Amino acid sequence: MNDKERVAHHAAQQIKEGMLVGLGTGSTANYFIEELARRRREEGLRVSVVSSSVVSAIKAQSLSLPLLGIETINRIDVYVDGADEVTPDLTLLKGRGFDLVREKLLARAADQFWVLIDPSKRVDRIGANYPIPIEVMPFAWQMVKRNLELLGGRGDLRQTANKDGLVMTSYGSLVLDMVFDAVLDSRTLNNLLNNTPGVVEHGIFRNLASVVLCVIDGQVVEQRTC
Ligand code: 5RP
Repeated sequence: MNDKERVAHHAAQQIKEGMLVGLGTGSTANYFIEELARRRREEGLRVSVVSSSVVSAIKAQSLSLPLLGIETINRIDVYVDGADEVTPDLTLLKGRGFDLVREKLLARAADQFWVLIDPSKRVDRIGANYPIPIEVMPFAWQMVKRNLELLGGRGDLRQTANKDGLVMTSYGSLVLDMVFDAVLDSRTLNNLLNNTPGVVEHGIFRNLASVVLCVIDGQVVEQRTC
């Protein structure tokens, strides 16, 4: 069992009867979905789920998890997802899966947000390993890009894996992947991006994680504060 699988199984064991569970997106979230489905199948665990992306919805459906539409709910018990970066104050960078609107909605709607990582995701500052994903309205991307360049950002629209087109989110946004100077801390950057017209959502998740679960030397360690 690899670290992602181990932490995902640990999280799935904490899910209680009757919970409404938000499903994240990505390889770690997939392990969690599979283990939750196994518990439902083999242990009769009664849960409902809501997904953060089309991808995780299809996965949940294929495993016969009872899936609710996000438009039918206004809160959930727990949201369980991975992250690309986590700082010591539990600020997250997310969005390689590029459905940021649903991910942040679920993180905010959840009584608890459990973040599952392996040690490679730990960083000193947001943006250390990855650019910041920024969802933009298609007609606004050039203006948004210029505004972000005036703040010192560099980057461009995200391309598809084989570079023959642009990535588009489920709801029709384009994604700018932008790198910023280290002088802009995540709090400042979060505020700047929240206040940039044309930005639909971005990958900095501040003050949303309840707990980060990380595998260290084969053991799952919980971090609530640093
Ligand atoms: C998707 C995400 C993922 O949670 C993040 O990319 C981590 O993925 P993985 O579990 O595959 O390492 O933010 O938008």
